Amino acid sequence: MSVALRKDVQFALPGEPDELSTKDFEVVASLVHEASGIQLNDRKRGLVKSRLQKRLRTLQLSSFAEYVAYVQSSEGHDELEELICAISTNVTSFDREPHHFEHFRGQVLPGLIEKLKRGQSVRLWSAGCSNGSEAYTLAFSVIEAFPDVSRADFLILATDIDKYSLAAGQQGIYSEDLVSKLSSKTIQNGFEAVEGGYQVSERVRSLVRFKYLNLMEPWPLRRNYEVIFCRNVLIYFSQERQTTLFSQFADRLVPGGHFYIGHSERVIGPANSRFSSIGLTTYQLEDERRRV
Ligand SMILES: C[S@@+](CC[C@H](N)C(=O)[O-])C[C@H]1O[C@@H](n2cnc3c(N)ncnc32)[C@H](O)[C@@H]1O
Repeated sequence: MSVALRKDVQFALPGEPDELSTKDFEVVASLVHEASGIQLNDRKRGLVKSRLQKRLRTLQLSSFAEYVAYVQSSEGHDELEELICAISTNVTSFDREPHHFEHFRGQVLPGLIEKLKRGQSVRLWSAGCSNGSEAYTLAFSVIEAFPDVSRADFLILATDIDKYSLAAGQQGIYSEDLVSKLSSKTIQNGFEAVEGGYQVSERVRSLVRFKYLNLMEPWPLRRNYEVIFCRNVLIYFSQERQTTLFSQFADRLVPGGHFYIGHSERVIGPANSRFSSIGLTTYQLEDERRRV
């Protein structure tokens, strides 16, 4: 156990695993990188240490060296998933980077609603969705502009590598503090008060499918997407992996589809020539059929 004096100052109590050696940190960093793409440089050592303390307590291990041996052993096979969940950063919020949702509602959604009204299908994808705030912000936007959307062929896919985030998204219960980012109209129409906060209404939840998908593994997707949000996810990956993934996202958009990334990200590599930059971290896939 450790005692927090201030958020950034901690001291070890007797019996606490107080040392994460360079060698053990490097093993953890390499396991995490290989499995998830997340890069951990030495500046993240303190963060890794504090996030792993809880795993050590749960597993009743007394040192990081024991933990590192366990996660690499055959009986610790499932621990790798827990390790990734412990290390991944899940910061998110409703209406985060609101200019993206304004662009989506103003420039993209009207065309998608036309498509749905013509009986065509529309799919959106929130990749690296964390607790679902991003996917539900999209769902609220769609349902408010097109209340009959449940009768149309429409779905939002929300994927993440972190099973706890996915479970939270599926349940759709958020504290009053988190929900207060949304307009009172959205709160009134889109949530029900439950114990512990507010739950996204069944009608809105039915528009979103939460699924495990590790971006580093083959993507089991059946079709392409009109809109992809992958924000504040690739920032944790190497430039090389980002380059590959941006091309994969371009391959997964319909011609003319829209792609939104996080505020400190930018499309790099060959995918750049396939996208037009149409706003702040907002891209549109060129209609490659028109080039022929
Ligand atoms: C900072 S959150 C971003 C949430 C949301 N997109 C937003 O911008 O508010 C990053 C998310 O990416 C997920 N993630 C990290 N590596 C991943 C991978 N290899 N495959 C899928 N999701 C991943 C994390 O679990 C985390 O929930």
